[in-house]
Amino acid sequence: MVILDIKNLTLEIESNGVLIKALDKVSLTIQENEIRALVGESGSGKSLIVRAISGALPPQWIVTADRLTWRGENLLTMTRAQRQAIMRRDIAVIFQDPMAALDPSARLKEQLLESVPDEFIEGRYSWERKRSRMKIAEQILHRVGINEVASCINKYPHELSLDICQKFMIAMALISQPTLLIADDPTRGMETNIKKQILALLTHLNKTRELSILFVGHDLLAISAMAHSMTVLYCGQTVESGKMKALRKRPLHPYTKALMDSAPSFSPDLQPKSMLVALEGTIPTLQHLPIGCRLGPRCPRATKECVQVPMERTINEHKYRCHHPLHLQVI
Ligand SMILES: Nc1ncnc2c1ncn2[C@@H]1O[C@H](COP(=O)(O)OP(=O)(O)OP(=O)(O)O)[C@@H](O)[C@H]1O
Ligand code: SF4
Ligand SMILES: [Mg+2]
Repeated sequence: MVILDIKNLTLEIESNGVLIKALDKVSLTIQENEIRALVGESGSGKSLIVRAISGALPPQWIVTADRLTWRGENLLTMTRAQRQAIMRRDIAVIFQDPMAALDPSARLKEQLLESVPDEFIEGRYSWERKRSRMKIAEQILHRVGINEVASCINKYPHELSLDICQKFMIAMALISQPTLLIADDPTRGMETNIKKQILALLTHLNKTRELSILFVGHDLLAISAMAHSMTVLYCGQTVESGKMKALRKRPLHPYTKALMDSAPSFSPDLQPKSMLVALEGTIPTLQHLPIGCRLGPRCPRATKECVQVPMERTINEHKYRCHHPLHLQVI
């Protein structure tokens, strides 16, 4: 069953008096118990999608969509209070920069205890409720792999390492037992072992707690090991999405293919010391967007048709937007 359904989400932001489509008809769905990866180069709009889902955008930005629903309820038309209730109860978000997301002026203990929902706390008297709150906090810290609870819980964020802060963020996100966790690049800047631990933890939570996850990231190898499905974004446009296995086996969009070819671990036939394939050029800035398919200036298959935005096409569950997909000849 689909829990989050996004169809043709467009986000317009003002730059020098002109409205620019930072997100242009983005579509994405998340099923119950699914891990979906959202990938794309830096600046492609991944964090904007996360913020649009969570409603954390400046009020002057214009968000429109054919559908932006949580379990069938329209997130765009519901009241602010209804949306906040969903974000508190059902959807938890780990934003990209853990240090910035934590309050620098409060000890981690205060921040964590504050996020324990009142309905989970047991006891009649205040001392009982305080003890219950602390017990829940300690349990969640153990679950995310923080064992030296006593030594770090009384510290401020700047006194701890990035990975401990990130684990705290994950603990705070999970404490309300959400149905969906949105993790925006949760392992950025971390060393390999810590990365592995966090990915293993998320996979474990998906399996044992039936937690659905929208995992935003760059590391294709790690993503392909954990995600069931993947959505590929380029410059604010979703270019391809489908089951992980199908995308790995046969990408249909030139950008997805280039992304996979540029990851050495994705090319098992690659000879040692051979050059990695990469698209020429860089992702355009929002102020210099090409018309039509935004990959046009960098795409080896582009023709004059590509000045029109391609429609979404579907083969089984595999969706792509391209006038000249890889399974067809360019005429
Ligand atoms: N507050 C803002 N004001 C204006 N433009 C913004 C703002 N935030 C993001 N952008 C622009 O929107 C585009 C998408 O940014 P976003 O942060 O979503 O990229 P991203 O895919 O998350 O990149 P990364 O992988 O580096 O995190 C970029 O061109 C960025 O410059
Ligand atoms: S062939 Fe055209 S539509 Fe397809 S990715 Fe290239 S530029 Fe875009
Ligand atoms: Mg980002």
